[in-house]
Amino acid sequence: MREACRIAATVLAEMCRVVEPGMNTYDLDQYGKRKIAELGAKSACYQYRVRDLVFPAHTCISLNEEIIHGIGRLDRSIEEGDNLSIDVCVRYRGLIGDNARTILVGRGRPEDERLLAVTRQALDEAISRVRPGARVGEISHTVQTVVEEAGFSVVRDFVGHGVGHTMHEEPQVPNFGRRRSGPRLEEGMTLAIEPMVNAGTHRVEMLKDGWTAVTRDHRRSAHFEHTVLVTPDGHEILTVEKN
Ligand code: MF3
Ligand code: CO
Repeated sequence: MREACRIAATVLAEMCRVVEPGMNTYDLDQYGKRKIAELGAKSACYQYRVRDLVFPAHTCISLNEEIIHGIGRLDRSIEEGDNLSIDVCVRYRGLIGDNARTILVGRGRPEDERLLAVTRQALDEAISRVRPGARVGEISHTVQTVVEEAGFSVVRDFVGHGVGHTMHEEPQVPNFGRRRSGPRLEEGMTLAIEPMVNAGTHRVEMLKDGWTAVTRDHRRSAHFEHTVLVTPDGHEILTVEKN
């Protein structure tokens, strides 16, 4: 898991580094595809199936009002001031690493800078609660509190998740809920914690591609995700780059 997660983190960081205004989202996805291959891994998103839908891209690239699971497109170009979310999920020697980040392209709007800072803070504070015996609800409640106190909303239709031999395992890790709810964490569990935060309404709608979730009010959204291991005395963030 550590190795898979390190690869996922490295690919995510390198994709963020090459982003520049004028680039289209298909080329950015192709860059991610190459980096994943160079590091000896496979995309866990490519050909991921949900019912009769097959995910066609290698990473998820979601711009502005797109929340998650955006598909790189030749006709979608990244512009100065855009809010760009990249989600990289890889399989390496049978195990998964999953992480995501939102960046502003060039100079962002102050409102977007705050949206990103709050989403990252919600993730950091949620991770700080992870230790054996804590309940999943503590993670959920922490994210919701940070986000709502800042005046933003948490997406409810998608959740974080256990992760390991497959991308989505038990338990579900919602970004809202009661502190004293949900299963207890145990040493050795690995969780993908991933607040998805909207500037306006929490409500989502789906694009016709069947995958891309967008905000119903078309205001912007941010997404940060780490894969985290429950250790005997707390936690270890696994999706960190190798230096
Ligand atoms: N990190 C994303 C998730 O947990 C990866 C999704 S890949 C996709 O949902 F194929 F479902 F898009
Ligand atoms: Co995930």
